[in-house]
Amino acid sequence: MTTTTPAYDAHADWYNAYMSPTSGGEYVARVHATLRELLGPGEGICLDVCCGTGAHASVAAELGRTSFGFDLSGGQLRHAAGRLPVAVADATALPLADASVPAAMCVLASTDVPDYAAVLREIARVLAPGGRFVHLGVHPCFVGAFADWRERGRVVLDERYADRARTLDSWNPAGVRARVGAWHIPLADLLNAVVSAGLRLERTVEIGPGGVPELFGFVAMR
Ligand SMILES: C[S@@+](CC[C@H](N)C(=O)[O-])C[C@H]1O[C@@H](n2cnc3c(N)ncnc32)[C@H](O)[C@@H]1O
Repeated sequence: MTTTTPAYDAHADWYNAYMSPTSGGEYVARVHATLRELLGPGEGICLDVCCGTGAHASVAAELGRTSFGFDLSGGQLRHAAGRLPVAVADATALPLADASVPAAMCVLASTDVPDYAAVLREIARVLAPGGRFVHLGVHPCFVGAFADWRERGRVVLDERYADRARTLDSWNPAGVRARVGAWHIPLADLLNAVVSAGLRLERTVEIGPGGVPELFGFVAMR
């Protein structure tokens, strides 16, 4: 269990509004467009690992996929339950057989767990051969306690890029990190964890409203 569970329980109503297509605005629209492109059409179950409030269930459904969400936070799952079938589970110990699902996604959660490599290993375990995994998260190089986005068009990075510890430090007092806290996984750690999990990287994307990307995503195959 991680220390994020009680934090998200306390912030679930706020998070649900934050990620809604209306109040989440262009950011949520960008997440959904990227997810749509990386996941692509398909049939059968698509696990939504760390599903939170189920904000992306509509995207999987549009693509013909049947979402099933897992999350540690009961508060988050109370919102998600109206959007997709869900269960409480730790992303590092999913209650599923080996090689049992054709697809999985994990969105905006790589900085919510202390060991994302363990989550990737667990996803690789439950994916069937040829199964598809979509990761979408904050960009490891440009979003974190080490990055200051106050001036539009200029992002200032500092030496805390190397610091993987959980922190609430953020340039934005209204963001998720300042409220709930976040870990940091540097880019090389993230990509090495994909390889170590036995997944084959197929495609990567960097997405943002301007020249500096705020989101990093990839497709990896079992
Ligand atoms: C920032 S939210 C993202 C939720 C959703 N994927 C989205 O994009 O809106 C991170 C989620 O990860 C969940 N979480 C953190 N650690 C977890 C773990 N070990 N197992 C399952 N869920 C976890 C939290 O409860 C929270 O709902």
